[in-house]
Amino acid sequence: MSARRVLVFGGTGSIGLAICRRLAADGDELVVADLGDRGHLISDLPGEGHTFASCDVGDLESVRAVAAACTDITAVVSAVGINYTGPVAETDWSMYERMQRVNLQGAFHIAAACEESCSPDAYVFLASVAGLTGEAGGAVYCSTKFGLIGFVQSFAAEIAARGARANTVCPGNVDSPLLRDLAAAVAEREGTSAEAMLDRFAGDSAFRRLITVDEVAEAVAFLASRRSSGISGQSLVVDGAPN
Ligand SMILES: NC(=O)c1ccc[n+]([C@@H]2O[C@H](COP(=O)([O-])OP(=O)(O)OC[C@H]3O[C@@H](n4cnc5c(N)ncnc54)[C@H](O)[C@@H]3O)[C@@H](O)[C@H]2O)c1
Repeated sequence: MSARRVLVFGGTGSIGLAICRRLAADGDELVVADLGDRGHLISDLPGEGHTFASCDVGDLESVRAVAAACTDITAVVSAVGINYTGPVAETDWSMYERMQRVNLQGAFHIAAACEESCSPDAYVFLASVAGLTGEAGGAVYCSTKFGLIGFVQSFAAEIAARGARANTVCPGNVDSPLLRDLAAAVAEREGTSAEAMLDRFAGDSAFRRLITVDEVAEAVAFLASRRSSGISGQSLVVDGAPN
């Protein structure tokens, strides 16, 4: 099998790094784009030829610069995302704007810049089950993920004409620092402990456990590959079955 080149935005986060490990183990060569100088985080990936590019997806020119420097990209993955929980009435407007800029506008920037310069065969964006069902305290985060799913469905229809595909993966509660931070924030609001919140999050799944980053990475690797050649505009839920 010939090596493929995959551009992974947010590739040094917890799910992003699991995706990079999974793709690199398959023999893919990676361009990992993330905030700041995190190149050292990809030094242990299997295989050779992986590179790091500093990128802020909230800034179109920053994404354009990364995409323009890439050649022969077969797939683009975005594991970028930031989280916030809080009631609408208590939400700082600047937080709302930051969430939209990174989680939703960032996806538009990635799609626009990559269509301009690399035209990959497949895109996979990390959404969430929070993009399928709303919940108290989730209005801001959910609005970005609902928006992302609608964006990807529409974008998939646009790029189908050139034979390309776009899908989202919607994880449930993943064992990760992002989830532990969320548990701490919700616990404070509800006057309970972060441990109790994590237990409740695990109980949201019929599996009665948190999903692993590797389980999410497996779904992303499938949608980024030719193995899913008939699938586009879809959202693949990885939550261990709703409870
Ligand atoms: N962890 C979970 O339980 C969970 C559940 C459902 C969905 N998700 C989604 O999965 C994705 C990855 O989550 P994670 O748990 O790995 O989070 P994480 O915080 O570990 O990783 C997020 C990555 O996004 C990067 N990032 C943030 N802002 C950026 C910007 N402006 N430009 C470029 N990169 C930026 C971060 O540097 C980091 O590498 C996110 O979209 C998240 O919403 C996570």
